[in-house]
Amino acid sequence: MNINQKHLNHIDTVNLGSYYTPEIIVDLAHSILQKNVSNIKDFTILDSSCGYGSFLTKKNIAKRLIGADIDKQAVSEAKRKLNGANFICQNSLANVSRKNLSIENEEKLIAIGNPPYNDTTSIIRNSIKDVSVQDKIDIDIKTRDLGMSFLLSYDKLQADYVCVLHPLSYLIKKANFALLSKFTKNYRLIDGMIISSHEFSATSRGMAFPILIALYKRDQKGMTYDYIQDYQFKVKDDGVFRLKDFDTIVNYVQKYPNKKYLNQNNKPVAKFWTLRDINALKRNRTFIDSDNYNTVYILMEKLPYYCYIDVFKQYADRMPYFIGNCDVIIDNEKFIKIKECFIAQSVHTNPVLKNIFKFREIPNAKLKIDNYFKELLGTRLGEKYAKNFN
Ligand SMILES: C[S@@+](CC[C@H](N)C(=O)[O-])C[C@H]1O[C@@H](n2cnc3c(N)ncnc32)[C@H](O)[C@@H]1O
Repeated sequence: MNINQKHLNHIDTVNLGSYYTPEIIVDLAHSILQKNVSNIKDFTILDSSCGYGSFLTKKNIAKRLIGADIDKQAVSEAKRKLNGANFICQNSLANVSRKNLSIENEEKLIAIGNPPYNDTTSIIRNSIKDVSVQDKIDIDIKTRDLGMSFLLSYDKLQADYVCVLHPLSYLIKKANFALLSKFTKNYRLIDGMIISSHEFSATSRGMAFPILIALYKRDQKGMTYDYIQDYQFKVKDDGVFRLKDFDTIVNYVQKYPNKKYLNQNNKPVAKFWTLRDINALKRNRTFIDSDNYNTVYILMEKLPYYCYIDVFKQYADRMPYFIGNCDVIIDNEKFIKIKECFIAQSVHTNPVLKNIFKFREIPNAKLKIDNYFKELLGTRLGEKYAKNFN
């Protein structure tokens, strides 16, 4: 089956998030489901953003297969290609109810698929059909990201299991996790695997970010943010990753604009661009010389940490993609021992800092920094990652 979506123009593809899932990833999701749910035959499987129906090709695995999509052409293509499933053309985020999908209240339900993920503030206007869709999302599941609204819709449908792909950032960014509270109150992550966004050919040109193939089980206990921090995520082809194994820079510095905290006694010595995650750091500047709404003012005692971030940026392309949405990681104890090396490297290489501070050479600074990063990743993620810093 050809899974590449080919009937939409660029604007509609972006707005509908119509990046179809490669077969190998669909199979991975199914195998995670099979491993954890022994009696799938008793369940109805629903993909409420089914595209051409890639997740519904496995015949006779469940009691019923249902596909829905807002895109008429996608639904007719799915109907043409697959005969083992029922398809509906609908906005799956409006009037969400089992009744509208002809699913009985007592029916056991698995939600599956790869719902669109895009920040609704970045929806490309001018789209012929789409702006109105945003306005029609049920108020209780409306968020700034379509994918998060989809997660909330599965809760509204009271799905027993949810097996979907979504950006890892939904879980690991605290603000996103909070937006999903109605979902996280009722669901628990029981299995999953991180894959790279580059597994999708259409998105492989941009910066890679981590996507989770997640399996959630409806559970009164739900899950806390602490549960996620302690969760051992499996990474496709790459071992495991646990947030709690890393300390981050936010425990030591101010991330956001801080003008209001300044007074006569604390005079800033340098300025920095607002910090976000590692992927944003790759794109953004670090030290700046202007004042604007994004400026973070740096006090002398915190300067070494900002130099650390500046140097980290130079190494960021060698970091694994799956930490791309994390804050800048640090081993504070080891960093303190060689902080002069980071200051020297930063003053030496950063044009803004060069103008403020005098460069003082530290012997073997670069080598010590290389070794620092080698250890930081090697001890926590394995030798494979240490090799990137040789
Ligand atoms: C990432 S694609 C996934 C398609 C298919 N499940 C796959 O993985 O190959 C997202 C799909 O969501 C559909 N979609 C976007 N917004 C929707 C909405 N509000 N209701 C239903 N489907 C929607 C798009 O038309 C697109 O087919």
